[in-house]
Amino acid sequence: MSRKILVPWAMSEIGKEVLKKAKVKTIFIHGPKGELPTLHELIKVVKTADVLIPRGTQPVPQKVIMANPNLRGIANYGVGYDNIDVRTATEFGIPVTNTPGVLTETTADLAWALLMATARKIPQAHDYTLSGQWKGPGGKAFMGQDIGPGGSNKSKVLGIIGLGRIGQAVMRRSRGFRMKVIAYDPPIKEIIQKMKGVEYRELDELLKESDFVTLHSPLTKDTHHLIGKREFDLMKPTAVLINTSRGPVVDEKALASALKKGKIAGVGLDVFEKEPRLYPGLTKLENVVLLPHIGSATLDTRGQMAVVAAKNAIMMLRGKRPKNIVNPEVYHSPEYLRRVKV
Ligand code: 8YV
Repeated sequence: MSRKILVPWAMSEIGKEVLKKAKVKTIFIHGPKGELPTLHELIKVVKTADVLIPRGTQPVPQKVIMANPNLRGIANYGVGYDNIDVRTATEFGIPVTNTPGVLTETTADLAWALLMATARKIPQAHDYTLSGQWKGPGGKAFMGQDIGPGGSNKSKVLGIIGLGRIGQAVMRRSRGFRMKVIAYDPPIKEIIQKMKGVEYRELDELLKESDFVTLHSPLTKDTHHLIGKREFDLMKPTAVLINTSRGPVVDEKALASALKKGKIAGVGLDVFEKEPRLYPGLTKLENVVLLPHIGSATLDTRGQMAVVAAKNAIMMLRGKRPKNIVNPEVYHSPEYLRRVKV
C-alpha cells in the first residue's frame, strides 16, 4: 500500500505542484471555503495517513498524534509550532518540521505596518473619514505618537523582545526612522551584546525605556504571559505595544485593563490568546488595532511556506532527513529507527 501525505487545509497551487511532481499520494480535506476539519474529523483521517502537514496554527494535540503514532512526520506550515504537541511527537519518534526563513521579511513588514498604523491611528482615522463624520477643520485630530524623531528631533526607542530572524528584520526597518534599538532575548544575550546598532537590556529596563515594544519570541512556557500587569506598570504611558508573535505571550486581561487605565498609549495585535476569539475588553477600546493573524499573508510568502512544508513532508515520507527539524533528537530514538528505517 502506498504511503500518503495528509493536507487538512486549502494548500496553494505552488505547494500542491511540489507534491504532484514528487508523485506522492496526498489526501486534501477542507470545507468549500477552506474551512479546516474539526478535531474529530482530523483524528479520523490522520489514521489513514503517513505524514501530516498542519496549517500553521491548526491544533495537533496529543489526541491526534495518538490516533496514529506510526506517523513518519509532521511538517508544519508555519514557523511557530506551538500548535503541535512536540513532546508527544518526540516520545513516539515522530520528526516535526517548520518553515523558517521564507516568512521573515513579510512578517517584519506586517509588524512594521501595524506599528505605524497603531502609532498614527490609521484604521481609526480611516473609519472616521469613511463614516462621513469628518466635516473639515476642527474635527477629530487623531493625535498619534511619533515613530521618527518628530518636531523636537528626539529619537524614539524601539524595544524588541525576541531578536531572532523576524526581530532582526524589524530592527532593519527601524533604521530609516533613526530609532535607538534595545533588545531582550536571554538565550542569545551574548550574541546581541556583540551586535552593532542594538543594546541589550533586561526585560524591566527595556519596558521602562521603550517608546515602542514589539514582540517576536516563540510561545514557550517561559514566554507565556511574559507581558502582564507588572510589565504594563513599568511601561511609559506613551508607549505602544505590538504583537505579531503569539497571543498568549501577552496577558490580554491585564492588557485591556492597562489600556483602559492609560498605562500605555495603544496596542497593535495580529495574534490573540484564544484565536479567533477576541477578549471582550479589547474590542470596545479606541486605542487598539486588531488584525486576524495575517503576519505571513502574502501570496508569494504563503506559497513559499507551502513549498517548504511540502518538501519537508516528502523527505519524511521517504524516511529521509528533512531541513528545519525542530526535534532532531528523534533521529536517535529507537521508536523512529524501528518504524522508519526498518
Ligand atoms: C501561520 C505563523 O502559520 O508561521 C507562523 O508561525 O504564525 C503564520 O505564518 C500562518 O498563518 C498559517 O496558518
